[in-house]
Formats: sequence, structure tokens, C-alpha cells
Amino acid sequence: MGESSLPNAPLSERVRANLSFNNPLWKIFSRVGNNHYHPANNPDGILNLGVAENKMMRGELVKHLNPKLELTESQLGYGPDPSGSTKVREQIADMVNSHFAPVDPVLPAHITVHNGTTSAIDIFSYVTCDPGEGIMIAAPYYGGFDFDTFMRAKAPIVEVSMAPADMLHPERHVELMEAAYQKAVAEGILVRSIIFTNPHNPLGQCHPRALIENLLRFANRYNLHILFDEIYALSVFNTELNELGIDSGTEFHSVLSYPHLADLIDPSLVHVIHGMSKDFCFNGLRIGYLISPWNSTFINAVKTVSAFTWFSGTTEHVLTQFFSDPAWVAEFIQGNRRSLAQAYLHMARFLKRQNIPFIPSRAGHFIWVNLRRFCCSEGQSDGPGNEDEKEEEVTMAAADALFDRILDAGVYIAPGIVFHTHEPGWFRISFAAPQSEVDVGLTRLLKALAISG
Ligand SMILES: Cc1ncc(COP(=O)(O)O)c(C=O)c1O
Repeated sequence: MGESSLPNAPLSERVRANLSFNNPLWKIFSRVGNNHYHPANNPDGILNLGVAENKMMRGELVKHLNPKLELTESQLGYGPDPSGSTKVREQIADMVNSHFAPVDPVLPAHITVHNGTTSAIDIFSYVTCDPGEGIMIAAPYYGGFDFDTFMRAKAPIVEVSMAPADMLHPERHVELMEAAYQKAVAEGILVRSIIFTNPHNPLGQCHPRALIENLLRFANRYNLHILFDEIYALSVFNTELNELGIDSGTEFHSVLSYPHLADLIDPSLVHVIHGMSKDFCFNGLRIGYLISPWNSTFINAVKTVSAFTWFSGTTEHVLTQFFSDPAWVAEFIQGNRRSLAQAYLHMARFLKRQNIPFIPSRAGHFIWVNLRRFCCSEGQSDGPGNEDEKEEEVTMAAADALFDRILDAGVYIAPGIVFHTHEPGWFRISFAAPQSEVDVGLTRLLKALAISG
């Protein structure tokens, strides 16, 4: 009936800004839709190597949890605390103390639990920024930040565009942040915070300690909150690669483990997020947590709005069962790292065979791949071109057309535009799926790129 356009049914300015928010992910998700690949039930469906979901440990998770999941009557009520019961916050604190090597033990009082890390980032944005105040993020970055910072908090992202080498460079990274900060200030934007992803999505790399120290000094200079998104902290597989004789790259160190943090920054500006989706392969549980050991006012502020991210008693039950056996959790983490290393190597060998350039991954579920030589402008024939010849002519539109071709071939890989990269031709491919599935996806990819396998 078209009620949505009735002038007599006005919507808030806030939400009207959302409706006109143009994000490539919406178009992509509408194309991928519900037509998901399944080897038996829907073999012609779209095979998803675009979303960062680790499917490799699911069997193990289900086997471990199923026998423990009997509901009791008390789990049917509201539960004691919208930001997580003491028990679940104790369990999360124990897990963080065992696996993030914090200098001082993290306590349950430092933690708030939410229905997903997405919600935790939304709350961080809401709590640190008034509408119109900026959050700095180095690009390429995880595209979900666009929604998390803007839809409710209305905090614009101050995007700091960087080439991959600069993203990981201790001095260049912070010089670019400084320049972007000064530009934003000159444009009248009051910058309040930074979101920093380590290990990085989409690069799949850990940031060097020197870079993080410089960034902490930068944040301190301008009194900026800094949220460390450490959602891939336990999916680092550099040691496993090293054991196979492959250079291990930069190691991961949680900011919680920095011994002299107070020499670099007022610690009350430093916060961390982690959750169940990535390192524990449990995206569907919708659990993420904020950890803020040095700022009880921040924690209290978060709690004023945490009723809106309250998760069910049933979810809490699953969560407490997951964490009830720390030895099993430790084995799970190790097993996951080993399978990520194997899955990564499988993907990297494929890319090398096809002579497709990529940034070597050391963490996460994905690899950042350069397909620019397959991008061709409209009217040109499909197929690989000479990289030098194509240097001049590759446009975002050509990269878009390549994305469509790949999707038409039945596989979804995430285009660079979603991560705000300005260099056309980058894509993020997830490898954390059963090998048979990945191989179907790669065969379809080769078809779209017009290379014979
Ligand atoms: C860097 C990063 N942060 C946050 C999230 C959101 O995670 P969740 O499923 O807990 O909302 C993702 C998911 O892809 C991510 O990659």
C-alpha cells in the first residue's frame, strides 16, 4: 500500500539518515540472498567465501556442547544482569587471563557482555561520541564498522586510507593518522575515538608492537578513546606456520599485556572487544564482550544502555557450558589454529599456482587477494590481462563488474569496496571452510576469471 512514503507518518531524522545511507553490503546481501550453496540440497546455490565464518570446528563444537545443553527452569527467566551474570563474566575473565596474557588479571567487574561484538561497538560509539563526533579508523577496515558507528550513535567515521604496507608500518601508520586527524579538525569534526583492529581484518596480519605504542601515544596526545577490536586474537596461526617451516611474521600481543601502558597513554582511554563469533567459531550465538580494566565510569556508562543488548538466558546457558571446561577450551583454540594454518596453506598454494598476488595471512579466516589483472573495462573481453598493460585502466567500475561475474559463477568473495579500499581489484577470500567446499568455490572462481584449473 506504500504506507512508508505517507507524509503523515514522519520518521525521526536519525533514522531517515539511515534510510539514505548507501552501503555496498546491502546490494550484495540482496543478491546473495537465501540462495546458499549446499552440496546435496542446493548444489547450484551461491558458495559463500565472502563472510568471515569459521565452519571448520563446528562438528567438534556441536559434539562437545550437545550433551551439556539441558535447560533448567531458572534459565527461562530474565537472568540477573543485562550485561551478563557474575558467573559468565567470571568465566570470560578466566578465559582472557589464560589466553590474552594481561599484565594484571582482568576481573568480572571490567567486563560487560552483549548480544554480539557488533552491539558492543555500537555501544562504544554511543558512549564515546555525541552525534556528529568522529571515530578514526584506518582503511581498509571491516565494513560492519560503517553500521556499528553510525546507525544509532551517528558518529561519522574519519577514514584514514592506507596502502597495506603503511597499515603495518610503525611510523607511516601513525603519520597518516595524525594528518587525517588534523584535516578532520580543520573541517570542524570533533574526533573522540579510534577503532583499531588487531589482528587486522581484512589483511590477516598482526600489527607490530612499535606501531601500537606509537598509536597509543597519538591517542593520548588528543585524549581519544581507543577501542582495540581483538576479535581474531586467538585465530593467529603464525606459530603453526613456523612449525611447517614458513616465516611466522609478526606475533600478536593483546594491548592488555603491555607492561608499561601508563607510560604511553592514560589507561582509562583503552578498551578491548572480543566475542564468540570468530575465535570460538560460534557466530550464531551472538555474544561479544567489552573489557575495560581501567575505566569504571566507562563501564557504568555502558551499563546504562546494556538492557538493549541483553541476551537470552538460554544463550547464557550455552555460553557458560562452553566455558565450563577450560582445558577443553585451550585444546579447542589449539586445534582451531592448526586447522586455520592448513586451510590457509591450501588457499595460498592455489593462489600461487594461479599466479594471483596476495598478502600472506597469519591470522583470521581470510586472505587479501589482488585480482586487478582480471578487471577489465566494459566492452573488453574477459580473461586475464597483462598486469602492466592494465595498470592504467582499472577502475572501481571494472572491479565491480568482475565482482558481478564472480557472483554469476556461483561464488561470493568480498569486494574491496566493502572494506573502503581505494585501490580497485582487491578482494577478501575466506578459507575457513571444509576443503571440499572451498574447492567448489575456487573452481567457480577460476571459471569467472576464465583460467583453466
Ligand atoms: C573486525 C570485526 N569486528 C567485529 C565483528 C562483528 O562480530 P560479531 O559477530 O560478534 O558481531 C566482525 C565480524 O566479521 C569483525 O570482523
